[in-house]
Amino acid sequence: MNLASAVNISDLRVLARRRLPRVNFDFMDGGAEDEITLRANCEGFERYRFRPRLLTGNAKRDLSITLFGQKFCLPFMIAPTGLNGIHWRHADIALASAAAKAGTGFALSTASTDSIEDVGRATSGTKWFKLYPWADRAFCSRMLERARASGYTTLLVTVDSVNAGRRERDARHRFSHEVTLTPSVVLDGLMHPDWLLSVWLAGGGMPKVINVAEFLPPGAGAADMADFTRTRRNPLLNWDDIAFIKSAWGGPMLVKGVLTAEDARLAGEHGADGVVVSNHGGRQLDGSLATIEALPEIIEAAGDAVVMIDGGFRRGSDIVKALALGAKGVLVGRATLFGVAAAGEAGASRAIDILRVEVDRVLALLGCHSISDLGPHHVALVSGIGMHDAAVRRSRTRATRPELEQGASIARATPVMNNLPSPGARSEPGFRILRRSQCRNGSARSLLDSCQGRSRQTFSGPVDV
Ligand SMILES: Cc1cc2nc3c(=O)[nH]c(=O)nc-3n(C[C@H](O)[C@H](O)[C@H](O)COP(=O)(O)O)c2cc1C
Repeated sequence: MNLASAVNISDLRVLARRRLPRVNFDFMDGGAEDEITLRANCEGFERYRFRPRLLTGNAKRDLSITLFGQKFCLPFMIAPTGLNGIHWRHADIALASAAAKAGTGFALSTASTDSIEDVGRATSGTKWFKLYPWADRAFCSRMLERARASGYTTLLVTVDSVNAGRRERDARHRFSHEVTLTPSVVLDGLMHPDWLLSVWLAGGGMPKVINVAEFLPPGAGAADMADFTRTRRNPLLNWDDIAFIKSAWGGPMLVKGVLTAEDARLAGEHGADGVVVSNHGGRQLDGSLATIEALPEIIEAAGDAVVMIDGGFRRGSDIVKALALGAKGVLVGRATLFGVAAAGEAGASRAIDILRVEVDRVLALLGCHSISDLGPHHVALVSGIGMHDAAVRRSRTRATRPELEQGASIARATPVMNNLPSPGARSEPGFRILRRSQCRNGSARSLLDSCQGRSRQTFSGPVDV
C-alpha cells in the first residue's frame, strides 16, 4: 500500500506506522494509562446511527461552515498538536499548507516545532493559535502578541493539561521529558531510514519547541526548551486566568478541553466565545467521557456559544454525527497527523481529502444539501451496545442485534452517560495494541552514535503536549 492506494484514515495510520520509529508512532498514536478514553472516543460514534431522509433531490452538497465570520470550505479543521516536527521536518508548515489548500483552518500548538512566525508566513490560510496557559502571564501575553502579529485569528486555550497525563507507551520507550538513546531505540531508528535521514539527520537531532527559544539563552537545546515548557505548567489555573487571557487576546477565544455542561457555562461567564469539547485525544485523564458522549449536555448548556469538538474522528460519518448533534465544527488530530507522518504535506492533503469525500457521501445518503440541513433528527442513539459489545462485534463473534431507540431525538437527549456500558465492560484482549518486542543491537547503536558524533545522547521531549 502507498499514499495513492490508501482508502481511509486507518490506511494512513498503517503507512505512518511503517515510516516512523516505534517511539514516534506510539507518542502520536497512544493515550493515557489503559487508553480507555482513547478507544471510547472512536467507539462512541458507533452508538449513534443515521436516520436518512430520501428523495430530497440533492445533486450537490455544500460542505462549508462559518465560524467567527470566517468561511471554512469544510466542516472540520486541523487540531493543535505539539512536536509535529519529530515525524516530518517542518510538519507544522506542511499541515498548515494542506489545510489552506483545502480551504480549511489549521491550529498551531504553543509546543510546535515550526515557529508562530514561520507558519504565519508560510500560508495565507486560516490559522488559529493554541495557548497553553502557563503560569507566567507576561509569557502568555507575549505569545498572544506574536500570534496576533502573524495573522492568527482565533485563540484556543487548552485547559485540560495543567497536570501531566501518564502515557505508558511513552514511559516504556523512556520518552518522558528525557529519552535515552538505548540500543533498541537506535536500532528502531536505523530500521526506518527515510525518517532517520529526513528528520533526525537532516534536522540535526531532536526538533526544538521553537516558540520558547526567545526566553532562553542563545544556544539552548531541545532539552532546555522542553524543561522550560514543563516547568511553566500552572496547577493553580482558574477561571480568572481565562478572563485575563480573553482580555489580553481581544479576539474570538474557545476554551479547549471541556467535558461538562458546568464548565461550558463557566467558560461563557468568563468571556469565552465557546468551547472545544475535548479530552486531548484520550491523552490526559483516562476514563473520562468520550467527547461524543459529553457533547449533548454541552450543546444544551452552551446556548448561542460556539461548541466545537475533537477526539476520535477517523471517518466522515463521525464528523457528520457530531454536526447533527449540534457541534458547529470538528477538529481532527491524529487523522491528519497520520497523513503528515506518512508523506508530509501530500499525506496531510490525502487525509483531508478522504474525510471530505466521506462527509460529502454521508450528506448525500442522508438526503442533505448542506451542513446546515443537519439536525438531531438525522441520528438515533442506539442502546445496548458499548465498548465491550463493539469489541466483540469487531471480533465477529457477536450474534445479537442492537436495539434501536426508535426516533430518539438527540436534541432532547437524555445525558448519554445513562447509556454508558457497565463498569466491567472496559478492555477486551483483542483490542490491545501489540508492541513489537524491543531489539537490542550494540553495533546499530554505535553506527547512529557515530552519525551523531557522540557516544551517548539523551534528548528531551515535552511529551505533555
Ligand atoms: C501527538 C499529539 C500531540 C498533541 N498536542 C497537543 C497540544 O500541543 N495542545 C493541545 O491543546 N492539544 C494537543 N493534542 C490534542 C489535540 O489537539 C486533539 O485534542 C486530539 O488530537 C483530538 O483527538 P484525535 O487525535 O483522536 O483526533 C495532541 C494530540 C496528539 C495526538
